This record gives sequence, C-alpha cells and structure tokens, in this order.
Amino acid sequence: MTDKTKQECYDGNVLPVVQMGHPILLERAKEVLPEHVSTAHIQRLIKDMRETMLAAPGIGIAAPQVGESLRIIVFRIPPGKEKGCLEGVPPTALINPGYEKVGDEMVKDWEGCLSVKGKRGRVPRYERIRYWGLTEKGVRVERTADGWLSRIVQHECDHLNGILYPQLVEEDDIIEEAWRSPLLLPEPETVVSN
Ligand code: NI
Repeated sequence: MTDKTKQECYDGNVLPVVQMGHPILLERAKEVLPEHVSTAHIQRLIKDMRETMLAAPGIGIAAPQVGESLRIIVFRIPPGKEKGCLEGVPPTALINPGYEKVGDEMVKDWEGCLSVKGKRGRVPRYERIRYWGLTEKGVRVERTADGWLSRIVQHECDHLNGILYPQLVEEDDIIEEAWRSPLLLPEPETVVSN
C-alpha cells in the first residue's frame, strides 16, 4: 500500500535526498525572509519537501536534505500508529523554526535519518519543548510538544544548524544497521527517518 493518501496529495516532486558527507548538511542554513515565504520558489520547495518525505517514507525532512540551504522543515506523525499520538500530526511546514526545552527531562530513543540511510541510533532529546516558526502562509505559530513530536522537531531543527543525529549518540551507545533488529522497528511507513 502506498503511503500517499488522498489527504496527503501535495502535487510536488520527489527530490533526491543528499546523504551524510555532503557539505550542505554541515552548514548553518539561511533564514527565509518573511516577504519571500509566499514566493513560488519557497511554496514549491515546501510542496516538494512534503512529497519527498511521504515518498521516502519519512516523518520529517529539512530543506538542506534536498539541497537547499534554507531554514525550512516539514514533519508529520501518521495517525493511529504509535507513540501515544492516536490522532497523528498532519504534514506541517515550519519556516525559520526554533525551540527551547521545557523542563530538564531527557529521553533516549531510536532515530533514523533520510540522509543516513540504513542506520539508526539512540539519541538523547528533551522530552518537552516549546517550538515556533512561520507557517507556509507566513503566520507565526508557537506550540509545545512532547514525546515523539518533540523529538522530530529537535531532529529537524538540528539539520538547519549542520547537526546530524550520529553526532549526538553517546559514546557507549550504538549506531547500528537498521536491518539488524527488525523487531524493534516500527511499521515501515512509520520508521523514524527524519
Ligand atoms: Ni534527518
């Protein structure tokens, strides 16, 4: 079954995802000027990022992963799957996003990344954050998140600062081939690849 449902049809193009080792993944991505949000270039890029994320399939993607050094992320949680998020989160774009921790609780969990194919690692993240950014309509939003959504937003924001998750895996922890422990992986369409 394809991951793309009627509600998730964005008419974008699937773009190639650059892999670890490409210098764009190590750069600090550039802010998008608010007056540029409505331009055809930015609107097309967001559509293409959504399409690329859904096709992968992944649950998040950042613009540098498709070769654009701009501060734009797209993420989602498929509904009814797991991690206590029954209603899911529809594909959401955030421009010039930021976050700060709410409380000091840290949680380690498995992550993958569309730019680190075939691997996964246990990454410590803040359990709860406040995050913000502009929607694709240029409206500033500010929200809180915990659990899986908190993890996804932190992972995607890291991409905009040149950080890939393997840099955050602690020394005594492991990065392993994703296929080695298939029982620990979620269903294919919900693999945590950001
Ligand atoms: Ni990623």
